[in-house]
Amino acid sequence: MDNWIDIAALNDIPRLGARVVKTDTVDIAVFRTSTDGVFALKDECPHKKGPLSQGIVHDNTVTCPLHNWKIDLASGKAKAPDEGCTHSYPVKVENGRVYLGLIEQGGGDVEQLVSARA
Ligand code: FES
Repeated sequence: MDNWIDIAALNDIPRLGARVVKTDTVDIAVFRTSTDGVFALKDECPHKKGPLSQGIVHDNTVTCPLHNWKIDLASGKAKAPDEGCTHSYPVKVENGRVYLGLIEQGGGDVEQLVSARA
C-alpha cells in the first residue's frame, strides 16, 4: 500500500466513535476503540445498508443502529448468527495522525471529513 492519505489527527476521532470520510465513490467510517484501535469500514451495514458510523462501538465491534447486527471492525464481517460482510480498508496511525490506505481511482479520492460522532 503506497497511497496512504492523512485523514485526521487520532484525537479528532472520539473514543468509541467514528468519523466519516467521503470519497468519490464511497463513504468510509473510521472508528476508534476505547484502547485507541483504529479501523475503517465502508459506512454501510451488510444487512440493509445502515450507517455503521452511527452505531455503538464496543471492544472491536460496532453494533448497527438499525437492527443491531454486530460487525467486526477488523474484518467487516457480521457476527453469527448473522451473515454478511462490508468492505474494510487499511488504516494506520503514525505520530498521532490517522492514515487511510486507498487505491487511487482517477485521482482526488478523498473529498472531506464530514462528521464526527462521540
Ligand atoms: S441495516 Fe444494519 S442491522 Fe439492519
